[in-house]
Amino acid sequence: MKVSVIGAGNVGATCAEVLAHHEICNEIVLLDIKENFAEGKALDIWETSAINMYDTRITGSTSDYSKTADSEVVVITSGLPRKPGMSRDDLISTNAKIVKSVTEQVVRYSPNTIIVVVSNPLDVMTYCAYVNSRLPSTKVFGMAGILDTGRYKAFLADELHVSPKDIQAVLMGGHGDTMVPLPRYTTIGGIPVTELIKKDRLEQIIDRTKKGGGEIVNLLGTSAWYAPGSAAAQMVEAIVKDQKRVFPVCALLNGEYGLRNIYLGVPVILGKNGIERIIELKLNDDEMRLVNESAKSVKEVMNVLDNMKD
Ligand code: NAI
Ligand code: 2OP
Repeated sequence: MKVSVIGAGNVGATCAEVLAHHEICNEIVLLDIKENFAEGKALDIWETSAINMYDTRITGSTSDYSKTADSEVVVITSGLPRKPGMSRDDLISTNAKIVKSVTEQVVRYSPNTIIVVVSNPLDVMTYCAYVNSRLPSTKVFGMAGILDTGRYKAFLADELHVSPKDIQAVLMGGHGDTMVPLPRYTTIGGIPVTELIKKDRLEQIIDRTKKGGGEIVNLLGTSAWYAPGSAAAQMVEAIVKDQKRVFPVCALLNGEYGLRNIYLGVPVILGKNGIERIIELKLNDDEMRLVNESAKSVKEVMNVLDNMKD
């Protein structure tokens, strides 16, 4: 079982380390454009194997995609992260060129692979990978929802002094400030969150979740990597172990939620075939309005990509 991670920076290396440490697959290739960078990161990770007691083999490569051949899953993390004052959308032109060329080379060597996109702006970079891969949309999707619900659950756990393990939540929409956490679908050990936290306090937590990426950028001067890397690894695990996990994933919609030809965060079942089903929740009017607003802002950036020259 082989997994490749493109981009050996903060998110890519973290994802690879989690995959290796938890023996989620038996072979990992880490690839970067920067000379010797992926080789160095891979060697450092491999040198933890006897300490952390795993035998997943990890190797690095500088731009040699033949090393990624026949990967079951490829995670794309290559691209610039944002700096303070930047939105995820500011990254579009640079990252679209990177994601396009990476995707073309990935599918050349792994024509049947499943692609998990992480690069930002996430929804639009996932669309970019889909268009350039020519794979079915069930095999090209993006990671954001696990990260965003992870943040939401962490904040709820702090608020209620409970274990984050007991929190279940669904979040929809784009990976940006218009994302839509859904309190009606949030439970703490089976108890609706609305019975445990007052409405105005819950709204503050939701607002912090929406701005969770920016909070880290302001603290660190670059974007997050531990939670994003672990979230991408969790998606890989669901695929390679055919776990049929239910996760919020950035998926291509073709009529679901009344939306078409748009990549957006929705709950899905993830297994060996990639997205095995998109789950359609019965949203109320307010929730649907927020999802539509989020879709509108993602569509605007998708149009920017469609109108960009090569
Ligand atoms: P980073 O700068 O640490 O790593 C990016 C790596 O990509 C660098 O090592 C760079 O050399 C490499 N790279 C650039 N062009 C390449 C190419 N053509 N081929 C192969 N490698 C190439 O950045 P970081 O923090 O790892 O973030 C990576 C991306 O993930 C950014 O776009 C960031 O905004 C995004 N991100 C997305 C999240 C999400 O929830 N979807 C969460 C966190 C980050
Ligand atoms: C995050 O949410 C920047 O998308 C990245 O941390």
